[in-house]
Amino acid sequence: MRIVVAGGAGDLGSRVVREVTARGHQVVPASRRTGVDLTTGEGLADAVAGADVVVNCADDTSRGDDVTVYGTRRLADAAADSGVHLVHVSIVGIDDHPMTYYRRKLRAEQGIQATGGPATVLRSTQFHSLAAFFARTITKGPLTVTIGDMAFQPVDTDFVAARLADLALGARPTAYARATDVAGPDVLTVGELATLLRAHRGASAPRVVRFPAVGGVMRAFAERRTVPSPGDAQTGGLPFVAWLATQPERLTGR
Ligand SMILES: NC(=O)c1ccc[n+]([C@@H]2O[C@H](COP(=O)([O-])OP(=O)(O)OC[C@H]3O[C@@H](n4cnc5c(N)ncnc54)[C@H](OP(=O)(O)O)[C@@H]3O)[C@@H](O)[C@H]2O)c1
Repeated sequence: MRIVVAGGAGDLGSRVVREVTARGHQVVPASRRTGVDLTTGEGLADAVAGADVVVNCADDTSRGDDVTVYGTRRLADAAADSGVHLVHVSIVGIDDHPMTYYRRKLRAEQGIQATGGPATVLRSTQFHSLAAFFARTITKGPLTVTIGDMAFQPVDTDFVAARLADLALGARPTAYARATDVAGPDVLTVGELATLLRAHRGASAPRVVRFPAVGGVMRAFAERRTVPSPGDAQTGGLPFVAWLATQPERLTGR
């Protein structure tokens, strides 16, 4: 099959490219560096033409609605116009979450659904790297701040990429479909994440200071709306602690 991966040079997209290539299929990465811009539509029709499936891992959180909402819709329209199956990655728990980015991701899903074309949306929990970034950000020296019972169920990005590859290479839906959500094997509180991160660089467990949630966004995280209910998600991939063991002592970036 010929699989176009939008955002194929990104963290997730490059893993999808690797996975689909390893399974013996032809892969075409598509993003600005290959002449495809979802914000202008440049190169889009040509990229989609001749594809059997388009996997969308493109995004730019610094561009507001431009890529996340409108760029996704542009890609979904191009795929629907050509009758091409679109596989799109989204985020677990966004149905009732006031965080601006999550609301954009929900609008992106709704835009895909509105095209009426064959599409599959896979929602994932936060990648291990993002959970680690978050826990590092709210840990200052030996102190970690947590809001209520906030926790994550972070997932190995390679596991998400493999599921996207399964969906791209599997049966094509006739219309819009949601795949079973994916998550990592463990639910970890912010305190547990921070403790693992500090242990990773030989430091003692942090003191965890717990604050009550103030405002809708904090409340949504404190209520663990981004953690799937037990049994609702397909779980797998490296647990956070095993992923952490593969990382350098000083983590950087997301
Ligand atoms: N990180 C997480 O924890 C997490 C969890 C669940 C779901 N997700 C979803 O996973 C997806 C991928 O995330 P990621 O961290 O892999 O992103 P990333 O590393 O930032 O990669 C984004 C890709 O999008 C491309 N891109 C940006 N602007 C573009 C444009 N205007 N037109 C075409 N391509 C464009 C970039 O390539 P160029 O620079 O070449 O354009 C890049 O390859 C996102 O949709 C995100 O919501 C992430």
